[in-house]
Amino acid sequence: MRLKSIISLHKILLMTVVCMPLTVFCTISFGQDRKIDTLYLELDMKYRIPEQWSVLPIELEDPYKRVKNGPPLVNVIHKANVGWLSRWIANPKKTVQNAKMPNLGLNFDEIKAVIVYLNSIAEKDVPDVTWEGFLLKKEDELSDEEYEKMDKVFNNGKGVWGRARCTICHPIKGSGGNVGVGPDLGEITTKINRNWLYDWLSNTKSHFPDTMMAQYRFTDNDVRGIVEFVMRDTQFIPEEKEEDEGTVAPVEQEVEVLSEKEFAGLRQDSALIETGKNIVEKARCFVCHDIKGISEIMPVVEKKRDVLAGFEKLLYEIKCLTCHRIQDKGGSYAPNLTFAGSKIKMDWERVFLQAPDIIRPLSQQMPKFNLTEEDAKFATEFIEKNLLFKETLPDFYKDGAPSVEVVASGEKLFYEKGCNTCHAEGTKGGGVVGPNLATVGDRLRSSYILYHLKNPQLANPQGVEPNFGLSDDELKQMLGFLVDHVQKKEGK
Ligand code: HEC
Ligand code: HEC
Ligand code: HEC
Ligand code: HEC
Repeated sequence: MRLKSIISLHKILLMTVVCMPLTVFCTISFGQDRKIDTLYLELDMKYRIPEQWSVLPIELEDPYKRVKNGPPLVNVIHKANVGWLSRWIANPKKTVQNAKMPNLGLNFDEIKAVIVYLNSIAEKDVPDVTWEGFLLKKEDELSDEEYEKMDKVFNNGKGVWGRARCTICHPIKGSGGNVGVGPDLGEITTKINRNWLYDWLSNTKSHFPDTMMAQYRFTDNDVRGIVEFVMRDTQFIPEEKEEDEGTVAPVEQEVEVLSEKEFAGLRQDSALIETGKNIVEKARCFVCHDIKGISEIMPVVEKKRDVLAGFEKLLYEIKCLTCHRIQDKGGSYAPNLTFAGSKIKMDWERVFLQAPDIIRPLSQQMPKFNLTEEDAKFATEFIEKNLLFKETLPDFYKDGAPSVEVVASGEKLFYEKGCNTCHAEGTKGGGVVGPNLATVGDRLRSSYILYHLKNPQLANPQGVEPNFGLSDDELKQMLGFLVDHVQKKEGK
């Protein structure tokens, strides 16, 4: 079928890229279409009224709306081994639990041709990384001394992995991955090799400029540690299928797998390469993948990535918008940053960005990206200047701190209203549903706390905090109590 117009193509593109993975995702994860509460939509609309947004000096790129949903295939042969590739193309969902790519119904001969074609378009050589000899040995081949050295690298990597919170984006054997964007890594060792992983973690963009994964500021040591951890820890290796004695297991249809040996014999076959190219064109792999050598019906707009600077560069590299939302772009896993400049105090934020501390004790936490002081400066300066409410929010304590009496009545009110069921605020303990408010006066602007107290759902439409309908006097007291929550200065 030839496509008549760019409009119909656009529709198909949108349908395939957006709807298909969505429906697949929904049926797999929820078993049914998700119903969104109408009240939520109403609040959401109210919250997102563009009239309140300030005009930004940069154009935000939404990582969720990239032109091609799949990764570029130009160097995939260096990433994935041929056995994995043949299983993947035959049946993505059977290969990776949360795969989004559809089953295209190719047979084994077609798959072989496709792989040989993919090999022919590779550009880069396999990244050449030097490893100490013992790191390339299997565990049972290591001497005691070597094992100890390897174990040190491994454990260092385990620590980096934990602080980097890789599992908030990546599920492992079906659990985790709350952001909902990364592939399941539970069997990743059957796909990739250590050289590729080293290269990916050091520079994701050189493989996939539009990736939703953050480019961490790792040191060489950090990367080597994670590689050791991922390539050796059992959580990244398929679970052995238990063979129950006595019961007859249902016969699973075996997928034919291309062996390295057969591949070596086929890889130079120019007729097969041509066949593979034809199949790739017919199967419309290019709708989702950037593939060198396959003519594009939709011209891909080259973006000028190298001229990005300051906060824009940070957004691109760290992919803040995979987790956060700014105005109408980005994800909803982490706090919305649209008004972060009106909300957060920048001295606190500068420190937080470089070394994130736990604000919300339950699960949601920002990974440690190792942002530099300069990164943090770019971010805070941009946020302070641009991510603001258009109107200045009212405040009671702009011109002076609350009196001791006001603070005391605020404290009484805090416990009367039961705020402590969800919040801790000091030495007395309290709930963990909401953020710990022990130093909320350092973290949040007083005017924003007032805005939040007047109606918690305006700040966060999904928020569980009830609207207490506090009177002006009560608001003044409660606010006084909260702004007084700063890290105690010396001698105080
Ligand atoms: C409807 C969109 C779509 C189409 C069409 C499609 N793919 Fe994919 N493909 C994806 C997505 C999305 C991924 C990323 C993994 C995932 O989440 O499924 C992917 C991943 C891959 C990978 C693994 C890449 C990597 O870096 O790990 C290969 C190889 C691949 N596709 C090959 C093909 C081939 C060959 C065709 C055509 C025969 C094709 N795809 C058609 C969506 C598609
Ligand atoms: C912000 C979300 C996010 C975080 C955090 C994240 N990743 Fe990823 N990662 C992704 C996405 C998304 C992909 C797939 C490429 C794409 O679609 O952009 C990916 C791809 C990968 C791949 C390739 C998997 C494959 O099958 O192709 C590996 C390996 C990987 N990530 C490891 C890590 C490690 C290790 C960490 C922690 C240091 C990490 N990721 C943190 C989102 C994330
Ligand atoms: C992998 C997801 C992820 C990415 C990427 C990410 N963050 Fe976060 N961020 C979070 C989470 C989760 C929190 C909430 C932390 C908590 O409550 O303990 C957070 C909190 C914050 C906060 C405090 C917000 C508040 O209202 O309390 C700021 C500011 C922030 N992030 C800025 C950034 C910036 C700037 C970037 C990019 C340079 C970024 N984040 C990238 C997940 C992420
Ligand atoms: C049912 C639980 C619950 C109760 C009761 C509750 N809160 Fe909260 N509160 C939350 C949650 C959850 C958040 C975090 C919202 C978010 O993540 O954006 C929050 C956030 C806050 C914040 C900080 C806003 C921010 O974005 O960091 C303040 C200040 C606050 N609450 C004060 C109060 C006060 C004062 C009371 C009593 C009048 C109260 N809360 C009662 C759950 C609660």
